[in-house]
Amino acid sequence: MSDTPRPVFPHRHLLGIEGLSALDLTALLDLADEQVEVSRQVEKKKSTLRGRTQINLFFEPSTRTQSSFEIAGKRLGADVMNMSVASSSVKKGETLVDTAATLNAMRPDLIIVRHHAAGAVHLLAQKVDCSVVNAGDGAHEHPTQALLDALTIRRNKGGIEGLTVAICGDIVHSRVARSNMLLLATLGARVRLVAPSTLLPPGIEGLGFETFTDMRRGLDGADIVMMLRLQRERMNGSFVPSTKEYFRFYGLDQEKLSWAKPDALVMHPGPMNRGVEISSEVADGAQSLIREQVEMGVAVRMAVLEALASHLPNR
Ligand code: CP
Repeated sequence: MSDTPRPVFPHRHLLGIEGLSALDLTALLDLADEQVEVSRQVEKKKSTLRGRTQINLFFEPSTRTQSSFEIAGKRLGADVMNMSVASSSVKKGETLVDTAATLNAMRPDLIIVRHHAAGAVHLLAQKVDCSVVNAGDGAHEHPTQALLDALTIRRNKGGIEGLTVAICGDIVHSRVARSNMLLLATLGARVRLVAPSTLLPPGIEGLGFETFTDMRRGLDGADIVMMLRLQRERMNGSFVPSTKEYFRFYGLDQEKLSWAKPDALVMHPGPMNRGVEISSEVADGAQSLIREQVEMGVAVRMAVLEALASHLPNR
């Protein structure tokens, strides 16, 4: 397998799914399939990013995204620095733009950014000379999550076009939902949004997505059931009466899952709140792809880093 980066992706940054073509997305997913094989070998190391510096800059907590970007960068041979925002000068009032200028002066090749504000990653990308990857910005986008979800679906269902995917739960606050809606629609899936009306974005029906406030109707005939966490950190006020009530009507248990197709598969981006949006029986059951999503996360992030490698400065 050649370690030479290939120009499969004609963009310098990955800031969102918005604006990417079906060709761009398929190229990344094909490349990610190759990285799954690399990650399953005893020898996992490649040299695509040898000599390159990758900074992971996370202003919000993360388990899956930060660790998988670190593993992905290291598997490709990069020097990876995890910047701890909690102990950085951000805590002393330094602005995002000044933080970006400071890091840029250290000549990184890639910066991976998670930020609580929608649009912050786009702003940072304008202030630095290197490639930038959005690891989640507010309720806006989480492109590598959508890509890893698509890779997981594609590997289990043989394709995405024509599938019915029900995205269920806190849609209005979810960057995962937004990126998935864009990606799945671009690749030809039928996307349904299932949630109480308080958790559906206003005016979303006009954008061509089917919406349901009833789980039975929303799950009927679904190939994929994608559950979302209630994102309390982004809620301003009360959106559901109680978590007990929410689970009763919208939490995915074995009975509600039986309303989808018999071979329906269950996904969740994590972190999960068991007993709120999903039961343990379903999360750990035979139809769950949740652990596989985590494995695909490393492969997708390797693919994204490798695809951006051909755009790095000084090549
Ligand atoms: N799915 C996801 O983004 O998880 P983390 O917040 O743990 O990175």
